[in-house]
Amino acid sequence: MLKNKTILLIITGGIAAYKSLDLIRRLRELGAEVRPVMTKSSAQFVTPLSVSALSESKVYGELFSLTDESEMGHIRLAREADLIIVCPASADFITKICRGIGDDLASTLMLAADTKMLIAPAMNVKMWENGATSDNVRTLKTRGHHFVGPDVGSMACGEIGAGRLADIEEIAQKSVRLLNPSEKLKDKHVLITAGPTHEPIDPVRYMANNSSGKQGHAIAVACVDAGMKVTLVMGPSHLEDVPGADVIHVSSALEMHEACMGLMPADVAICCAAVADWRPESPGKQKIKKEENTDHWDIRFIKNPDILRDLSMHKKRPKVVIGFAAETDKVEANVKQKLLKKNCDALVVNEISDWHDPFGSDNNQVGWVTNKGHEPWPLITKQEVAQRLLDKLEEMI
Ligand code: C5P
Repeated sequence: MLKNKTILLIITGGIAAYKSLDLIRRLRELGAEVRPVMTKSSAQFVTPLSVSALSESKVYGELFSLTDESEMGHIRLAREADLIIVCPASADFITKICRGIGDDLASTLMLAADTKMLIAPAMNVKMWENGATSDNVRTLKTRGHHFVGPDVGSMACGEIGAGRLADIEEIAQKSVRLLNPSEKLKDKHVLITAGPTHEPIDPVRYMANNSSGKQGHAIAVACVDAGMKVTLVMGPSHLEDVPGADVIHVSSALEMHEACMGLMPADVAICCAAVADWRPESPGKQKIKKEENTDHWDIRFIKNPDILRDLSMHKKRPKVVIGFAAETDKVEANVKQKLLKKNCDALVVNEISDWHDPFGSDNNQVGWVTNKGHEPWPLITKQEVAQRLLDKLEEMI
């Protein structure tokens, strides 16, 4: 999968640097040639000898090394790579590449390169959450740098939170995808709905659900990585816009419906949003006052349009329409019926139970349902769900 590909692996200083050895091994198993570049501080955590032995390559480290410059100038080193991976990427290194600082070989290579770059951050949770780091990451994303991780979990420093290096296999698979964009998916227009909808009760109140929008967001990121033309119609959410995607922000189901219909024709529709099925029929024009003489408040609801169904029935119907379904009981029977009723090609099904509540979580356990049957997937990250969904899409399109 990575045969004839040259990967420049930049290892920066951090406790996770030792994991880069596993990454080298995995990338080479997949067929890549790995050229390692180490910053000075990374050598405090992992020895250049181990890196060299596993990569079977010279380890580059000096900007002004006469031998390096005569054998392979730093510009050539940057340009000859099909992909640059920074693993682990420290907060300091991320700042440097964001600011365009080139004060050592690794940062100079980042400045000189015009190839795809994949950054795998790993740092303490407070460093990751620091506003400076967030701003830098946001800037780099908008410049087209790809990121993988960090994951949430316990860290070497004993704290718990976001900052763990992404799984090595996830980094390797993301590299494979970046270097082998699917010809079938490339340039296809995909419409994705994500997040909840807010149904106004009056100017200050609304009805909503717990959807965070994370799953749809992850699908949009995966589709951008796959070279698709992505339009993300996003209900209210705290998530950042997906770099490389057109993002249309909406609030209510009616707005989401209008935006989606206006986007037809598209090649693919993936309806991940947790659209409210109902909306208050006559939202108050002013804030509705609390009545003193009653303990009840009756609101009459009216059905919202079904976006998924209307896309599936559209005269310019996308070639592939995929929906999501959350079920609490009689899952199989309900899903079969839903597939027919909504006229979609596949449903990704969440079984909501006491032990599995995907709302807001980073992980998801779903099943893939088509008229051919039900394929259960294990508990995996929402990014991995997105990837599996794209693999299926590639077969279907
Ligand atoms: O009918 P139910 O809400 O379970 O269906 C879930 C699927 O239908 C999801 O894909 C959701 O995005 C979509 N849907 C929709 N418009 C609605 C309700 C659900 O697109 N009004």
